[in-house]
Amino acid sequence: MKLLTVLSLLSTSVLTSALHNDLQQPISNDHAFDSGFDDDFDASLAAKSHPKITSEHIPSDPVDSIPPIGFGTWLLKNEDDMQNTTDSVAYALQTGYRHIDCAAAYRNQKWVGKGIKAGLHTAGLERKDIWVTSKLWNDHHGSADPSLVEQEFNETLADLGVGYLDLYLMHWPVGEDPKNHNTSFDYIFTWSRMTKLLDTGRVRYIGISNFAPEELRRLMASSDVKPYAHQFELHPYLQQGWWLAWHKRLGVVVTAYSPLANSNPTYKGRVKEMPPPLLNNTVITEIAKERSCTPAQVALSWNMFRGAVVIPKSKHERYIEENLGSLNCALLYPDYPKIEALGKKYLTRMNNPGEGWGVHLFKGLDGSEQ
Ligand SMILES: NC(=O)c1ccc[n+]([C@@H]2O[C@H](COP(=O)([O-])OP(=O)(O)OC[C@H]3O[C@@H](n4cnc5c(N)ncnc54)[C@H](OP(=O)(O)O)[C@@H]3O)[C@@H](O)[C@H]2O)c1
Repeated sequence: MKLLTVLSLLSTSVLTSALHNDLQQPISNDHAFDSGFDDDFDASLAAKSHPKITSEHIPSDPVDSIPPIGFGTWLLKNEDDMQNTTDSVAYALQTGYRHIDCAAAYRNQKWVGKGIKAGLHTAGLERKDIWVTSKLWNDHHGSADPSLVEQEFNETLADLGVGYLDLYLMHWPVGEDPKNHNTSFDYIFTWSRMTKLLDTGRVRYIGISNFAPEELRRLMASSDVKPYAHQFELHPYLQQGWWLAWHKRLGVVVTAYSPLANSNPTYKGRVKEMPPPLLNNTVITEIAKERSCTPAQVALSWNMFRGAVVIPKSKHERYIEENLGSLNCALLYPDYPKIEALGKKYLTRMNNPGEGWGVHLFKGLDGSEQ
């Protein structure tokens, strides 16, 4: 477990470059720049920066950069027994995770916060030793009332029981009026309100989630503050190699959500043609056998090798441990074309609430028409 703890503290860039050296050409056959967007690349966007925030609320030596594996907290509850949420988060920290992914929309942040407190205590850690991300929900984009952004941010800090966040994301590029469910708010305005949060000294970085290419370009062109990270769905059934590479060129970290694909039971029934469960897929299970890993570790390791941060969620101790163990699962070059072929055969986006919200999400990205 000691090795895992050390590895989980490594920055993504250190880890991935070490692994990439082994593999020599980690994403070369991922058709990284095969999109037509290559010609449109605007280097002035990549040149923007995310300001380094120092304040009395942030210790002088917080976690340097986002750890390559975090613990997801969506659907972390056991009906009315929120103790399950607290215990899972505490166990994750105790096991060696140093990064927790939260959101106001998950409606469990108070219990996640208790888990953070308990986990830090048991592991003998301080707040500064871990990375905490949370997200602003659609009904607090604040077009009509700009103070809503700061209001939800403050509630999140209070619920999680932390003095600052490492990263605060706009959950979707869709603002919704809480009164009439009007979704016409502009994320550019929301982003400008989020940049003001940096002035409070209570958040180190801001970022986005679920943006389409043109939305990302527009947001970056509108502001001097570059998003630190973009969190979106990314797994072997939705590989988006060029989109990942695009972020590398921009200097924006990619965090892969639902990295175990259709292992999340919520997606059942949401997708017209659900592919076979990723973790039972023979391509994945055979690679797992050959590399002495588990199928989940193969899926997570594959994403980390490509340079993405992964945030698997589980309420089971054995899975929490197993998923962190993906840091020790080394894939080899021949595994990549096999997994790439899987992505072509079963290309599926699991999470697209656009239809229900009356908006077209993920324009220009794979699987956006489902
Ligand atoms: N930004 C966004 O819009 C967005 C959207 C979706 C997710 N996220 C974030 O990403 C995190 C991860 O995504 P996710 O929760 O959708 O899915 P996930 O982490 O890919 O999969 C979670 C599911 O897989 C099961 N599982 C976990 N580890 C396993 C293992 N080793 N073997 C077998 N089954 C395993 C879990 O079961 P048990 O829990 O029963 O153990 C759970 O049902 C979320 O928790 C959230 O923090 C963000």
